[in-house]
Amino acid sequence: MIETVLLYLALAVFAAGSVYRISAWFRHDIRSDTPPATPGARFGAALKGIAATVFSPKLFTLIRVFVMDVLLQIRLLQRSPYRWVMHICLYGGFMVLLLLHAMDGLITAKLFSNYQSTANPWVFIRDFAGLLVIVGVVMALRRRFFGAAPRPLTAKADTLLIAILAVVLLSGIVLKASKITSHTSYLDMVDVYAATFEEEELNALEAYWVDQYHVVSPNMTGPFEPETLEAGEELHEMACAECHARPNWAFTSFAVAKAGKRFALRLDALNFPGLMWWLHYLACMLGLAYVPFSKMFHFFTTPLSLMTNAVTDKHTASPLNLATKQMMELDACMHCGACSLACSVAVTVAEVPNALILPSEKIPAIRELAAGKPLTANRVRRLQQGLHLCTNCNHCTEACPAGIQLTDLWAAVKETVLQKGVPEFLLLSPLSVHRGVTAGAALDSDRYREPLETALGAVGGGRLTEFRQDPQPLAVPGSEKVFALAGQWMQPEAYAACYRCMTCTSACPVVRDNPDEAAKLGLLPHQIMYAVKLRQWDLIFDSRMLWDCVGCYQCQEQCPQSVQVADVLYVLKNQAISRAVAREFAGDRKGVQ
Ligand code: HEC
Ligand code: SF4
Ligand code: SF4
Ligand code: SF4
Ligand code: SF4
Repeated sequence: MIETVLLYLALAVFAAGSVYRISAWFRHDIRSDTPPATPGARFGAALKGIAATVFSPKLFTLIRVFVMDVLLQIRLLQRSPYRWVMHICLYGGFMVLLLLHAMDGLITAKLFSNYQSTANPWVFIRDFAGLLVIVGVVMALRRRFFGAAPRPLTAKADTLLIAILAVVLLSGIVLKASKITSHTSYLDMVDVYAATFEEEELNALEAYWVDQYHVVSPNMTGPFEPETLEAGEELHEMACAECHARPNWAFTSFAVAKAGKRFALRLDALNFPGLMWWLHYLACMLGLAYVPFSKMFHFFTTPLSLMTNAVTDKHTASPLNLATKQMMELDACMHCGACSLACSVAVTVAEVPNALILPSEKIPAIRELAAGKPLTANRVRRLQQGLHLCTNCNHCTEACPAGIQLTDLWAAVKETVLQKGVPEFLLLSPLSVHRGVTAGAALDSDRYREPLETALGAVGGGRLTEFRQDPQPLAVPGSEKVFALAGQWMQPEAYAACYRCMTCTSACPVVRDNPDEAAKLGLLPHQIMYAVKLRQWDLIFDSRMLWDCVGCYQCQEQCPQSVQVADVLYVLKNQAISRAVAREFAGDRKGVQ
């Protein structure tokens, strides 16, 4: 009775949690260019999209993706046979346990009229499936803790999920083990199926079960007379055999049962099998209720993501559906870390310890952003740094077993995050021109310029009045090394020999491209070298030249005095940025909406 109530309770939490989680796909948006729409309108657009797909030849694509990528997981096999085996064990084993064991009343018993949970092949299948899941979990843990760097980071939620799964599996095994040896379970069965037996017959049956089925009896221990066992076997064949395969077939539980035989009588007296049953049941109910709040939900979302992406053309899809699709993709990520292993810039983490450089770690931050949680300016800065260091190589998207279009996600999120007004200094790099290229027509010139100006304002507007020869620990984590290296170039011999011949400025392509140079660029390269001598930091850091320099080294190559013009410019940039970072983010706790 109470277990039925618990089951319905767990199902209710499961259903409510799932609806809430799915509704977020329609309520939230991480793009900045989606036309305003109510969740209802977004839901309607999605239904229309689904209908248009199902009633078109694309249906065959859907079926192919379902068989190849969802059921057989060919995408995963191609990337990594190890993870494929791991995942097939986890997912195959789990599915068998769920459908044939947990839902046996609904499924197995209906399909197979002679189904008995204690008869073969079911005993063996159940144990084998449990073993598969355990093998999968061990493989996953091995990969997580001893795999190649950079490893997926383990979130608290991951640990809780693994803990619940472990309790479910282990309690299941121990439960079965304790029942095998339980004299009480034996007597319950005898009451039902051997009620008509005489005393002597009962003794023979019990002897047989003690001898062959490993029941631990307080009344008798072996060895028994062969005649007794023979008589017992006959009765067993009559009353029990039909439903009972030998316990050896439940091989994992059987091993545990044999190991625990010494304690069986005492445990049975304490109703240990009953307690284990409750532990197992409660863990299962907890697991069921927890699914929508954990990454187990990817059971639903990952197949959806794979199938949706197979039939969605981002150039023709409705913008509402693109917004919904990206929210669903965020949900489909199971934090497997494959993208981070493939990421071209993952190595940077060794020098710049910002986990949000790794694609797999960006996803949780983006989820928070999408859910409208206030992030500290520092977290936004870290996310921005991760997004802007990305080279758009697309390796992450190719590696993702959930088929998430990660590169598209980064492009969309970049613009949304920039609108929060936190200065992003990497925008000042000439390489960040890419942002304009990828955002394309969606980005009008104002929205393109604003974040640039925010960053320029932060570096130039701070009015640096002193230049630190000795690099101090900086607020940009990991930049100490870069800065120390660059600092070597700021010895006086790097710039002191300049006699203002202007060769550097004449050689500079940036100057050449700006006919009204002085007005736009501020100080020109030769003037900057001279200003360094004069320690005119304000003038230097306010100069656009510093940020428009493309680092081509023409100036440095042409200089007759071997002044390290381009290197000095780099040091100046680093100084300006590290100062601005220290000023903007020091002790930051404030939330950015
Ligand atoms: C109609 C099928 C059926 C018959 C006949 C039957 N059993 Fe069972 N028996 C079961 C099922 C099903 C379970 C598991 C019940 C559960 O898990 O609550 C079970 C469990 C047991 C257990 C506990 C160990 C375990 O593996 O779960 C013992 C011991 C047992 N039976 C003994 C007997 C004996 C002795 C007889 C013959 C007198 C017998 N059974 C006849 C179906 C049957
Ligand atoms: S596109 Fe960016 S995040 Fe993805 S693998 Fe390449 S560098 Fe890493
Ligand atoms: S984005 Fe894809 S590859 Fe990366 S952690 Fe998530 S599911 Fe794995
Ligand atoms: S840095 Fe070299 S090229 Fe430039 S003005 Fe000075 S001496 Fe001339
Ligand atoms: S390195 Fe910079 S300053 Fe020097 S020539 Fe190239 S663009 Fe001009």
